[in-house]
Amino acid sequence: MSNYKVKKAVIPAAGLGTRFLPATKAIAKEILPIIDKPAIQFIVEEALAAGIEDILIITGKGKQEIEDHFDANFTLEQNLKAKGKDKLLKLATETSNLNIHYTRQDHPRGLGDAVRHAKAFIGNDPFLLLLGDDIIRGDNLSQRIIELYEEYNQTIIAGVRVDPDQTKNYGILDIQATQKPQVYQILDMVEKPQDHAPSNLAAAGRYILEPQIFEILDTLEPGTTGEVELTDALIEFQKSHPLLAYEYEGEWFEVGDAKGMLKAAIIFALDHPEIKNEFIPYIKQVAKKFETHNEKD
Ligand code: UTP
Repeated sequence: MSNYKVKKAVIPAAGLGTRFLPATKAIAKEILPIIDKPAIQFIVEEALAAGIEDILIITGKGKQEIEDHFDANFTLEQNLKAKGKDKLLKLATETSNLNIHYTRQDHPRGLGDAVRHAKAFIGNDPFLLLLGDDIIRGDNLSQRIIELYEEYNQTIIAGVRVDPDQTKNYGILDIQATQKPQVYQILDMVEKPQDHAPSNLAAAGRYILEPQIFEILDTLEPGTTGEVELTDALIEFQKSHPLLAYEYEGEWFEVGDAKGMLKAAIIFALDHPEIKNEFIPYIKQVAKKFETHNEKD
């Protein structure tokens, strides 16, 4: 058991995943694999490695595979046992028996509304929020912000630097440096700034939230997009509570669309013990093909 205050995590995974159609017509985007492991398994593993004891996944219509993935598969286990396939058996069983709980968001009314569904599970504790389609590679980001919460007792938003010409695609944090490297005071937040971005630090799908956020979420109505935005709740929260940003220096992948998933798959292949030896020469060969292709253009 960890001594940290943050022991619970919430993973919203009830979104429609329209940016990944047609793949997500019948399959939850969170279950799409990065090579051979569903995206949501990376996220669950990150939370558990950070000392989280209980995880709540917010699911919805058509998300049954997520629960099945974290459940035992008796037929598969019997089959692998009978064939003596111990290594595969380990892979098939290591995702069962975890402390994962589920609740359903009845309508996909946005991230803010999804988080609101965690209220009873969270009670009065601070908690870790991990977005279902943000994957990190490098230091355990959840662990970093859990440790930071011990020190500051303030809501924390993790951020990653993006190219300045890409800020219009992200939630951007307006920040002021503190005494501590990588830690900033948040002055404001702007969702997808089209003209002038206050910085290039983008919110990267990991937060430590405090239970008072639920009081604000309960008062919010869906905005022009028809969705309740978590950012709106955080902007309101900031009027009475200080917010911190933590700048993550590892890699961050948004796997909620095909491009992000492809980038993640390529880089994670370099870590994969059974794939990397064959894949690295292959990718070098492909890179050469791209070069000649570009020369022809
Ligand atoms: P996204 O912004 O990626 O939204 O949500 P989305 O609806 O899933 O995807 P697109 O835009 O249609 O392609 C960020 C995270 O919040 C969850 C998603 O499952 C994802 O993990 N979410 C989003 C919910 O749980 N409920 C919602 O109503 C919206």
